Amino acid sequence: FGHFVHFVEEVDSTQKIALRLAYDGAKEGTLVIAEQQTAGRGRMDRKWFSPKGTGIWMSLILRPPIPPQKAPQLTLLTAVAVCQAIQQVTGLVPDIKWPNDILLNGKKCVGILTELQADPDRVHSVIIGIGVNVNQTIEQFPEDIRTVATSLAMEKGERIKRAHLVQEILLQLERLYHQYLQHGFRPIKLLWEGYAVSIGKKITAHTLNGSIKGTALGITDEGLLMLEDEDKHIHYI
Ligand code: BTN
Repeated sequence: FGHFVHFVEEVDSTQKIALRLAYDGAKEGTLVIAEQQTAGRGRMDRKWFSPKGTGIWMSLILRPPIPPQKAPQLTLLTAVAVCQAIQQVTGLVPDIKWPNDILLNGKKCVGILTELQADPDRVHSVIIGIGVNVNQTIEQFPEDIRTVATSLAMEKGERIKRAHLVQEILLQLERLYHQYLQHGFRPIKLLWEGYAVSIGKKITAHTLNGSIKGTALGITDEGLLMLEDEDKHIHYI
């Protein structure tokens, strides 16, 4: 991955650029990476704070031969790859909070956003957006997220080389992706469960149609979360 790289100094969102490149036929493994995003996008239509020079803001184009229902698997795969890369580069061991927030000491340091271009039976492209808070200090976060956000540097107590981490993320992603195409989702699921903190706990899952409270039982082979509500009814999210 990353053989075709579009590096941009400032952009509204790498996700938007990657979606357009994918639509125009960009090859699998094409990467869009920016120093700064002026309108970084998060999940659920939230904003993603992406200031200049402190983080990794990038979007990767994949073209997996899978039906759209299986796309959530790639989000989980990405979370595992980023955890492995962080562990490799910093020695810190992150947790995953379902579906794909990556936490250190309970605070979020990475967000992942996957978007699809697909027909009902076939995926054309998956755009994987990865935002990593690498070298921010606490003052560099907006006040309203200071209690829930962190950076790798804050947790490690020293600055981290962004280029090194980008390289390691791409390496781990490529390795897991090939493993996934050859052997399916099961090995990835086991790795994901190894990092997950939500399983067996009471959580609130936010969906586009509102939120559901329940106990997280695990994930299915498709990559959906199984959530048992108070009436013992199981939701697949
Ligand atoms: C989340 O809400 O947790 C997902 C955040 C995803 C942020 C990344 S930064 C690179 C890419 N471009 C965007 O506009 N968003 C994603």
